[in-house]
Amino acid sequence: MRNKLLFINTFFFFFFLLRASSLSLPLSTNSRWIVDQDGQRVKLACVNWVSHLELVVTEGLTKQPVDVITKKISDLGFNCVRFTWPLFLATNESLASQTVQQSFLNAGLADSIPDLQANNPSFLDLSLINAFQAVVESLTENKVMVILDNHLSKPGWCCSNSDGNGFFGDQYFDPELWISGLTKMATLFKDNPYVVAMSLRNELRGPRQNANDWYRYMQRGAEAVHGANPNILIILSGLNFDKDFKFLNNQPVSLTFTGKLVFEMHWYAFTDGEAWKNGNPNEVCGKVTNYIMGMSGFLLSKGFPLFVSEWGVDLRGTNENDNRYLNCILAWIADNDLDWALWTWAGTYYLRQGVKGMVEYYGLLNSDWTDVRNSSFLDRISVLQSPLQGPGLSERNKHKIIYHPSTGLCIQRKPVMGVQLGNCLESNHWTYTPEKSLTIKGSYFCLQAQGLNSPARLSIQCAGMGTSWTPISDSKLHLSATLRKSSNVCLDVDSNNNVITSKCKCLSKDSKCDPESQWFKIVDATDVITTGLQSQAQGHSLS
Ligand SMILES: *[C@@H]1O[C@H](CO)[C@@H](O)[C@H](O)[C@H]1NC(C)=O
Ligand SMILES: *[C@@H]1O[C@H](CO)[C@@H](O)[C@H](O)[C@H]1NC(C)=O
Repeated sequence: MRNKLLFINTFFFFFFLLRASSLSLPLSTNSRWIVDQDGQRVKLACVNWVSHLELVVTEGLTKQPVDVITKKISDLGFNCVRFTWPLFLATNESLASQTVQQSFLNAGLADSIPDLQANNPSFLDLSLINAFQAVVESLTENKVMVILDNHLSKPGWCCSNSDGNGFFGDQYFDPELWISGLTKMATLFKDNPYVVAMSLRNELRGPRQNANDWYRYMQRGAEAVHGANPNILIILSGLNFDKDFKFLNNQPVSLTFTGKLVFEMHWYAFTDGEAWKNGNPNEVCGKVTNYIMGMSGFLLSKGFPLFVSEWGVDLRGTNENDNRYLNCILAWIADNDLDWALWTWAGTYYLRQGVKGMVEYYGLLNSDWTDVRNSSFLDRISVLQSPLQGPGLSERNKHKIIYHPSTGLCIQRKPVMGVQLGNCLESNHWTYTPEKSLTIKGSYFCLQAQGLNSPARLSIQCAGMGTSWTPISDSKLHLSATLRKSSNVCLDVDSNNNVITSKCKCLSKDSKCDPESQWFKIVDATDVITTGLQSQAQGHSLS
């Protein structure tokens, strides 16, 4: 039995490698899914990598050789980069032709040149535009897809309402120049199939923003890019810092082509100020998720992919506002199986807002760019890196997984009749019945609450006490069951990672307590083979 399993796993492992190495580009859309040429779902699991700050040099080149950095992106289970660039790189010849070395000197960073020389000597005398291309080449060699993101016009940190880069007609945002820059970039990379998408403009905002101009220029920009490279996906950002697409309820985008349009949205904890820290996490999560579904999430049901192209947290785990938000957004991304790009990849910046060598605590990498800043964060997002639903995945294998965002793990069976947390992609397949019983597919076993502060277990009395699980609270992220004397308990994870049931915590009002250990999401999933293999491939390369 074991040998047979090993054989099957090994077989599928190689099968997966074969598939991954023959990703059939270009991409297109099939309703709300992004698919490859074979019609198979491709889930974008990306990092943002910054190239739009004052130096207009991709961050990290003073820390590690570019190939080491790009290889690490795929080793960590990401399949793409949202690669930022300032418009002027494409439209200002004297900027684009400046060398990397000159750019460091101009910025007062002569000190950093020896580190650049040591790690990436070939970059010193490249022009800024050629250096940008060289990074794309390196990503391509590692089969990492690239989404070119026009982040702003004038190089520098983004974004504020009054920085002159916010909306068509602003000081640095001439629509005609923008269209010509987009066309140039699309043309420059048109022969590289790994450049799969262009995000036309990041976070539209400011006093000039309005829906009429949004349609006028976004449609023109989309047509211009499509004309230059008809293969790539066109990604459009919403108003008000990429939050608001409500206007699309009244009027769709009108384009001469189909199957290429994707919308992107951004969601951080600070999007809602300090609401997470100061409010009750269930109430805030429920309220904010509903708000987001109304502003951008509705696009999924209109048949468009929604790319969560910026989200992220302070990875030191010290920001309470971020920590509470993180559990909520992880559940939301998993539940909707969204495409996404984490903010951000860089562990440091050469120069940001006047600070040399600024550390980026939202950055996945540490300050030396040698390793991840926080490996438990990677564990928590690993299930989000795999496609769970969509075209090409087996309909026959439809099931549920029970995801616990605060650990990134899922509920699985353990001997004898017990349950534990484990890798989501290797966890059991569950069915959620109309009677709200959670049953392991193909078995008689269902999840049962045994009592207050007792381990949850499997039972074969699936209509019995403690076997009906209802999502409760505003967040709907607590799974509650009723015991004798109609007392309720919630599924929970104790400090030793045991799955137990306990008194339901902070369901409303109380802003002091954090219910994260009791937050679970019953998530739709389909094919076991593709996803299971992806996890093996990741496990393999991480070890
Ligand atoms: C073009 O770039 C150069 C070099 O950075 C800069 O001095 C100049 O002001 C830029 N021109 C425009 C129109 O932005
Ligand atoms: C990683 O994040 C967790 C919170 O998610 C935190 O408790 C831990 O201290 C962090 N580790 C490091 C090394 O920053």
